[in-house]
Amino acid sequence: MKIDIVSIFPDYFAPLELSLIGRSHAAGLIDVRLHDLRDWTHDLHRTVDDTPYGGGPGMVMRPEPWGEALDHLLAGMDDSTVPGAPASPRLIVPSPAGVPFSQSLAAELAAESRLLFACGRYEGIDQRVLEHYAARTRVTEVSLGDYVLFGGEVAVLVMLEAVIRLVPGVLGNADSLAEESHADGLLEAPMYTKPARWRELATPDVLRSGDHGRIAQWRREQSLLRTAQRRPDLLARQGPSTLTKQDIAF
Ligand code: ADE
Repeated sequence: MKIDIVSIFPDYFAPLELSLIGRSHAAGLIDVRLHDLRDWTHDLHRTVDDTPYGGGPGMVMRPEPWGEALDHLLAGMDDSTVPGAPASPRLIVPSPAGVPFSQSLAAELAAESRLLFACGRYEGIDQRVLEHYAARTRVTEVSLGDYVLFGGEVAVLVMLEAVIRLVPGVLGNADSLAEESHADGLLEAPMYTKPARWRELATPDVLRSGDHGRIAQWRREQSLLRTAQRRPDLLARQGPSTLTKQDIAF
């Protein structure tokens, strides 16, 4: 997967060299390229923002540097009509006004061959940039949650962590993906490791019983219980086909 990120703070992305993401990069599973938006400015001060039309506090990112940056990065990449040509990249713009990020959106993005992230700062990017590129490629504004960050950089780091671990080959044990929280729309059951007793607290006996059927049933029940207690909204979204008779009886 090829990932381009445009930002005025490319240094924010240093953590991408760490841990599994760094190893996936090194192993060639992902190819991340950082770009400084100011490289597409032409004035002495490398200006990327200006005051908002209509007034109000803060600054808005000007469309010209974004236009040059995105034209450059999309050049030659958007001809999906040519057989065998790379699919046009999906342009992701982090914004508090975007669609909520979720595990299912992460899985959708993990299946793309090219992602292009445009990190806005200040009060955001001039809306015409989004309109213009929506006619050329798939554009999705994505929100991490109902709060406002200084800019899109941290949001992109979060999204990339969620996406890259779903790229085939990145995680050694693909089974852990199927069982983790949100994979089936529920929260995961609590997990325990050695020692069996710690500070007078024991691990649940069933987990040391060796009975895989009982363990699976216990985990399913814990998963339903936790979801009902902590995230009833998630449980309400489960369709009748995803809850078994045993689940409903529980
Ligand atoms: N930029 C600023 N706030 C944001 C949020 N909540 N999600 C994504 N990008 C943002």
